[in-house]
Amino acid sequence: MAARKIAINTGGGDAPGLNAVIRAATLAAIERGWEVWGIRQGYRGLLDDSPDGLIRLDRERVRGIAHLGGTILGTVNRGDPFHYPMPGEHGLVPRDRSEDLVRRFRALGFDALIAVGGDGSMRIAHQLLERGLPLVIGVPKTIDNDVCCTDVTFGFDTAVSIATEALDRLHTTTEAHERIMVVEVMGRHAGWIALNAGIAGGADVILMPEIPFQYEPIAEKIRLRDSRGRRFSIVVAAEGACSQGGELVIKDAGDAFRRAAVLGGVAERVAKELATRTGKEARSMVLGHLLRGGGPTTADRLLALRFGAAAMRALVEDCGSGMVALRANRIELVSLDDVAGKTKTVPLDSDAVVTAREMGLCFGDEPSDHFAAT
Ligand code: F6P
Repeated sequence: MAARKIAINTGGGDAPGLNAVIRAATLAAIERGWEVWGIRQGYRGLLDDSPDGLIRLDRERVRGIAHLGGTILGTVNRGDPFHYPMPGEHGLVPRDRSEDLVRRFRALGFDALIAVGGDGSMRIAHQLLERGLPLVIGVPKTIDNDVCCTDVTFGFDTAVSIATEALDRLHTTTEAHERIMVVEVMGRHAGWIALNAGIAGGADVILMPEIPFQYEPIAEKIRLRDSRGRRFSIVVAAEGACSQGGELVIKDAGDAFRRAAVLGGVAERVAKELATRTGKEARSMVLGHLLRGGGPTTADRLLALRFGAAAMRALVEDCGSGMVALRANRIELVSLDDVAGKTKTVPLDSDAVVTAREMGLCFGDEPSDHFAAT
């Protein structure tokens, strides 16, 4: 097969494991005699007139990076080429730069793009294909685990591990003060992190977007624990959790360049309400970007390395465009059509939800002693 020239980029919020993907994809390409370039800061390295917008990736450049957090290429949340920030008369205005991007990509002689990103990046990759990009292989990244058609995204295991460790630590101080502690975790409109960390970290209540909550069942659960001599309670709240009939708690509504709202603040709101209802002291804390910081767990590192090599394999085998995905522990190529614009939320009949209910955890939707009562 003729030598090929491949570009890789990383877009959206970073996730531990990005550098492992870059390393595996680069080494797999070099082994085949192919050339690999990294695009800096999402698509910015192709669109802005900057001399260091593209980095040649060679063995030296990807040496010793698999365990490192962040991304050696950089990433942006306001880099959608279809709504690209450009100087206007009164500040930055969104412009469609997708045609410039495709033209530059082709002029530089690239044969394919490996786009490492979350749901937003997969939607952009899909639209770029329609605009004329020759070939795209997506790699599903996000701590939120909300990308469709893959059992898991890399970054998720690390986020759950960090959140679980935080819950372990918060137990001792919360118990010592006989308080309520409400811990907010990321996840956007999916509760994967809250659910998994909540179960593993021994939370008493889990609030997640898939199950709108009411305050009274949560207060009741806390009173019940108090009556059993467990005078403290830990609540894990996904940032996208919402009370029944209530609204999402947002920090920033988004703008013309980043249309998704920035969520945040639900833990504080829940803590205040629970303090009022139970008469107990309540504290809240937001784990936020800590869940994305630092290196990947071994599981995430391995998954990211497998995804990176598989992306290159898909190109070698001429499978066409798609996204590499983990399904029943096999890596497959799935259609970007099936992934773009969709969100994978937690199924309410999933084993983890059933496990939590069987252990008496409360989701705020019904009395938590529901199994005991039946
Ligand atoms: O999608 C990953 C994620 O970490 C979400 O969980 C969170 O809502 C969002 O990114 C935060 O984005 P930012 O880095 O812009 O604060």
